[in-house]
Amino acid sequence: MIQIKNLSKLYQTKKQQVQAVDNVSLNIEQGEIFGVIGYSGAGKSTFVRLINRLEEPTDGSVVIQDKDITKMPGNQLRKKRQKIGMIFQHFNLLWSRTVLENIAFPLEIAGVPKEKRKEKVLELINLVGLSGKENAYPSQLSGGQKQRVGIARALANDPEVLLCDEATSALDPETTDDILDLLVSINKKLGLTIILITHEMHVIQKICHRVAVMENGKVVETGDVLDVFVKPQSKTTKRFVQQLNPLEHERDKLAEFINDREDSEVVKLHFIGKSAKRALISEVAKTFDVEINILQGSIAPTQEGAYGTLFIEINGEKELLQKTIEFMENTGVEVEVLKDA
Ligand SMILES: Nc1ncnc2c1ncn2[C@@H]1O[C@H](COP(=O)(O)OP(=O)(O)OP(=O)(O)O)[C@@H](O)[C@H]1O
Ligand SMILES: [Mg+2]
Repeated sequence: MIQIKNLSKLYQTKKQQVQAVDNVSLNIEQGEIFGVIGYSGAGKSTFVRLINRLEEPTDGSVVIQDKDITKMPGNQLRKKRQKIGMIFQHFNLLWSRTVLENIAFPLEIAGVPKEKRKEKVLELINLVGLSGKENAYPSQLSGGQKQRVGIARALANDPEVLLCDEATSALDPETTDDILDLLVSINKKLGLTIILITHEMHVIQKICHRVAVMENGKVVETGDVLDVFVKPQSKTTKRFVQQLNPLEHERDKLAEFINDREDSEVVKLHFIGKSAKRALISEVAKTFDVEINILQGSIAPTQEGAYGTLFIEINGEKELLQKTIEFMENTGVEVEVLKDA
């Protein structure tokens, strides 16, 4: 649905040149939630602003629904932009207007008649869960509520795509999760394509189907979220994945459990996708005469299934231990037996 080809942006200031976006090519599919993650200065905001041409590219093209927006004259571009919704970290609401008036604003600009506007706005207020707040001013709303106004406003002209630049970065973790849930429900309900910029892996993990990792203006890695989590290639990606699953790197702390005893093994289980849905531990305990202690674990749900690590200690007869491990391997879980170093 969106084809981005060799897209570049070079900022030229008196003192220096900054290659903010460097030859980025990506295809974004209809109806997917596509995440772009990177550290500060990686070029994420510039990239997303090139998609709706708030920023003029130095090079390359952006084709949205078969229309190359980089070649559009101004009047066509303004029309097209109505079909590209955008939400921001600091909401960018009109402070002297009520919730209702904020959401109606893009409809006014698009020339929608008053009666129709009202109907649409009330529908949107309902969709984002702001019923009862119609006449409140932004200053009377919480951060999460402000972002709900931002989302409703962005959806007013039934966009083909929604661009989100750090839309949850100003919110506390719980409110972040509420807003992310809202984005997922809108994605499902309206089939809306969403491009989401963030520096938090948690955001990618929770709602994205695919992800691109940006560094120094370049996309250094891209793929399905689960694949990237399980087998990160670049150093930057590995650092982001660590953010999410710090346990992976805490195995030293498990040393005290790891021993040479014949009747016990410490095992690391790596759950990916569907395998994580099985109640493996209780199944094993029922099937084999072994005792299982859970030492440590964390499972993170993603749009394509869960992902996580569990460290367990299994106690039992040597032969049974072997059978138990084989059984677990056959369920598609990655099993690693940890030995005393
Ligand atoms: N208008 C501008 N003029 C000159 N340089 C700019 C301009 N806008 C951005 N840059 C530079 O381009 C690079 C990328 O900036 P950008 O804002 O896209 O990064 P970002 O990944 O969004 O960072 P953050 O996570 O901090 O928001 C930075 O080095 C920045 O200083
Ligand atoms: Mg930014």
